[in-house]
Amino acid sequence: MGTPPLLLLFIFVLLLAPACRGQQKVPSAPRNFVAELTSATSVKLTWDAPTAANGALLGYYVYHDRMANGEPVIEKNSKKRIVMIRDSTKRYYELDNLDPNTEYSFRLNAFNRNGDGEFSERRSVITQGIPPEAPEIVSVSLDRDEPPVVARIEWKMPKVKPNETPIDKYHVWLRAQGYPDSYIKSKSVDGTDLSTTISGLWMGVMYDVLVAAENREGLSNNATETIATPVGSPDGEPIGVQYEVMKGKIVVSWRPPPEEKRNGNITSYKAILSAMDESTDRFEKMVSSMYL
Ligand SMILES: *[C@@H]1O[C@H](CO)[C@@H](O)[C@H](O)[C@H]1NC(C)=O
Ligand SMILES: *[C@@H]1O[C@H](CO)[C@@H](O)[C@H](O)[C@H]1NC(C)=O
Repeated sequence: MGTPPLLLLFIFVLLLAPACRGQQKVPSAPRNFVAELTSATSVKLTWDAPTAANGALLGYYVYHDRMANGEPVIEKNSKKRIVMIRDSTKRYYELDNLDPNTEYSFRLNAFNRNGDGEFSERRSVITQGIPPEAPEIVSVSLDRDEPPVVARIEWKMPKVKPNETPIDKYHVWLRAQGYPDSYIKSKSVDGTDLSTTISGLWMGVMYDVLVAAENREGLSNNATETIATPVGSPDGEPIGVQYEVMKGKIVVSWRPPPEEKRNGNITSYKAILSAMDESTDRFEKMVSSMYL
């Protein structure tokens, strides 16, 4: 009874056949595989060549998975998570622009003409939080164009990546061009607000409008715009008026009105000299502000 010897031999040959073709083996696993963060959201992978190339190495495949609760997230477009490196001498690979606050898991294998080799161990990293992108200013307008001048600023929430830390606040600055930074007006509003008003702007001034978003990780870059307030006639008089009489001449000197009362660039001053008893003609002289 039992199996006919010929059939046994046939099965034996079938089992042995793949193992006999030694030169058709795939590479063993790459060694010393390491994944390390090079910034909050970039990673550098490094490795050494497999011990057994089993033929000419052609390159590597790098696999990366987003992890959730310790498991790879099955993504629809799974091709994106495999990178082919057609360079057998390559010993590193860098990925940037990963999502913040996210665990990623990596592994790789080498390939030769016979196919994909054995996998390295998995290595994981958890990316860090990042500050938000700059918001986009949608409009800057004047709610009131006479004193107290009121500007209205509206913006759009910046794009946020998956897992990005939520925006806590927006900061708005109005910087009068040509004046020191100590004249900056600023306001902070809640992270859910997308507009605000700032009042008490000077007239006749070009303002830089800056808006930044802030989260727990820090401030975004500034979005910038400008707005000009309308010019008005000066509200304040020249200050420090002095005069000196010499050789039948009167020399009058002064300083411009305070910044907040100029309501624009002063273009000229008028000096008037009249006798107290109005017995003689008045002298009037226009002085261009260029010559102050
Ligand atoms: C005031 O003068 C400065 C400097 O010349 C100029 O940049 C600015 O545009 C002027 N402002 C107005 C409202 O004309
Ligand atoms: C944005 O503008 C404000 C006000 O001028 C400044 O303090 C801040 O440093 C600016 N932020 C950046 C990232 O340049």
